[in-house]
Amino acid sequence: MLSDIEETLLQPVELFVAAQLKKNKYENVLQHLDNGIVLFNCDGQITFANSLMASLLELRAQDMIGCNIRQLIALPQLRRSKWKWILQVYREMMHNHKTKFEIRDDYGKYWMVLVTYAEDLDGDLLISFKDISDYKRIEETASQNDKLAILGKISAAIAHEIRNPLTAIRGFIQLLRPHLLQLGKDEYARIILMEIDRTNDIIHEFLNSSKPSAPEKAVLRLSSLLRQTVLLTESEALMKDCEISLQSEQEEMLIAIDAKQMKQVFLNLIKNALDAIEEIDGRKGEIHIRAKSEGSNAIISIRDNGSGMEQASLKRLADPFFTTKEKGTGLGLSESYRIIKNHGGSIQVESSIGVGTTFIISLPLAN
Ligand SMILES: Nc1ncnc2c1ncn2[C@@H]1O[C@H](COP(=O)(O)OP(=O)(O)OP(=O)(O)O)[C@@H](O)[C@H]1O
Ligand SMILES: [Mg+2]
Repeated sequence: MLSDIEETLLQPVELFVAAQLKKNKYENVLQHLDNGIVLFNCDGQITFANSLMASLLELRAQDMIGCNIRQLIALPQLRRSKWKWILQVYREMMHNHKTKFEIRDDYGKYWMVLVTYAEDLDGDLLISFKDISDYKRIEETASQNDKLAILGKISAAIAHEIRNPLTAIRGFIQLLRPHLLQLGKDEYARIILMEIDRTNDIIHEFLNSSKPSAPEKAVLRLSSLLRQTVLLTESEALMKDCEISLQSEQEEMLIAIDAKQMKQVFLNLIKNALDAIEEIDGRKGEIHIRAKSEGSNAIISIRDNGSGMEQASLKRLADPFFTTKEKGTGLGLSESYRIIKNHGGSIQVESSIGVGTTFIISLPLAN
């Protein structure tokens, strides 16, 4: 008789304990989820926050429980950047009525925020934060690759079309060559023909390989390669009222390089220096090119007194397509960095706004 009553009385307790255990189990699951989870009740108070959510806000979960949004942002231990972040989420949800959106935190991570309000949550509001930084990175790379593929196609088409006029120019220069010789200007014809051949080679290389070709190295005198390159930029320098000086400390520095590729690097750097000089008024442009040997390396520095660069630009110089110029492709430096790396060398840059920029290239010496 007594045991019957006991049983009847104990039944609800057992049910309650069972329900509590089940609840704890689900809470544990939520705690270990790799999403940040926060639950608000219908009065707008936080009733649950998992550990990832708390660490996202750099708070303790127990400090969050019972707070509404206003109380949460008033917590003295909440950092200002987190405060702004919470308001951003709040704005997206309440003002823009979004239930799914992406947001960046103060560490540059991307989060996908999902807001769920459902009857079966007893009127509670569930907000989850999923770290999507990896997806974002893949997405950005994919879009960069798309851009590269499109650019590749366009460039191939242009490269192909440039060949025809080049052939015509080459033919006419050859016809003019005897006349230039008479005027004592055969050197000009020689340079033009050499440059047309170089352009043709670049186009050939571009059209015949999707991958940039490995350097075809030959041992050359660095000072004469630099002299040839400066000669090519002289007319542009003259037009921009800029003086280019070349100083080679040792005449006999030999380097094993692909002359065409290395010339392209020096041309890119001098052209950039000329562009930077064009941006400033009121002082004469100067480009100093200096070559010296240091241990087993040749050090070539190209210093300009142009506009200089901000720290943010300096970090992005090797990125393909990074440009601040209206008509720039942003490929000059990324290609130059690649060529220098393929030659076992390195590039360093020093720059200050309004003062100028120095590119310092180090290449292994051959002698
Ligand atoms: N000497 C320099 N002084 C100031 N800024 C420079 C200098 N060299 C490069 N930069 C900056 O770096 C950016 C990238 O240079 P890069 O040569 O890769 O591309 P670009 O010159 O813009 O375009 P392109 O080379 O196709 O003409 C430039 O847009 C410029 O902002
Ligand atoms: Mg450039």
